Amino acid sequence: MFVPSEHWYPVLQSRELGRKPLGVERFGRRLVFWRTEDGRAHAHPDRCPHLGAQLSRGAVDRDCLSCPFHGFAFDAQGQCRRIPAIGRQGKIPKGMALEAFAVREAHGLLWLWWGAPREVYPELPFFPELDDGWRYGTETVEWPVHYTRAIENQLDVAHLPFVHRTTIGAGGRSLVEGPYIESDDHGIRVWVTNAADVGQSPRTLAELATAAAGAPPGLHFRFPALWLLNLGERQKNMIAFVPVNESTTRYYLRFYHRVRNPLLARPLEFIMGLSNRFILNQDRRVVVTQTPRDSAHAEQDRLIGADRAIIEFRRWHRHMRDMPPAPIAMPATER
Ligand code: FES
Ligand SMILES: [Fe+2]
Repeated sequence: MFVPSEHWYPVLQSRELGRKPLGVERFGRRLVFWRTEDGRAHAHPDRCPHLGAQLSRGAVDRDCLSCPFHGFAFDAQGQCRRIPAIGRQGKIPKGMALEAFAVREAHGLLWLWWGAPREVYPELPFFPELDDGWRYGTETVEWPVHYTRAIENQLDVAHLPFVHRTTIGAGGRSLVEGPYIESDDHGIRVWVTNAADVGQSPRTLAELATAAAGAPPGLHFRFPALWLLNLGERQKNMIAFVPVNESTTRYYLRFYHRVRNPLLARPLEFIMGLSNRFILNQDRRVVVTQTPRDSAHAEQDRLIGADRAIIEFRRWHRHMRDMPPAPIAMPATER
């Protein structure tokens, strides 16, 4: 499965990984996550190099992950440390090792570096405005869709009055002005300015750019897989998109807020969780029907100006697909 490489991806919520090894599918591969005694998280292919058993069925033994089949034990770097059958004096063959992915833990998420190992890794692609003083509730869902369609759905500003007619799209603002977008090699920012169509001509991009100046974007997508909806200064929705395989995407949808009192915060998170789930289900009904699944193969899609953010996402995605795996800056956007 193609997923842009040389990036940090959110892959799990911190709280999903306890003391037991966890086997999950990510990027079309079966991976095992586990924690050493110091609590640090590690990830490897979920396949023992001996006879191919799933390591996630094994156990953590001090600072090693041991295979359930013949007890081979691997350390966090993937090096085999023990082969019970050859005894403590036995020499462990050189190639008896697992690939070890770089893993970070921050913002309540586990992040995996998808790409060649490096000496120094770039920062995690998070939103600085969510750094301090926020609480959040998380909804986890898995959809039978390719991650490109999942992401594009959240960059799509023209579907609101149709898909969300009864909720956030009420009011029939079907005329999409712009949208005005800005992008760089970190992400795409979208100012959503939909209007009721009373026969007026929509504002030009230049007018929208002037109106956007100084105002925060309504949507902000951070490459490769993080999305932020600005509901106001004290409330945001964030989605971490997790590519599972060609036909499955996992969503960690978080409602961020600043209500401190847990007696008020919990009910608020519960209600917003319910409503976000309801709204997302409205999207799901349509997105699961899109063909082809992977938008990279959707040359027949006829995009319009209102799809500007989707076009930009596809441009970045195509660029990543065509480039050799090395850190690069994207060329400037033409508008
Ligand atoms: S298959 Fe894992 S130790 Fe044999
Ligand atoms: Fe939607």
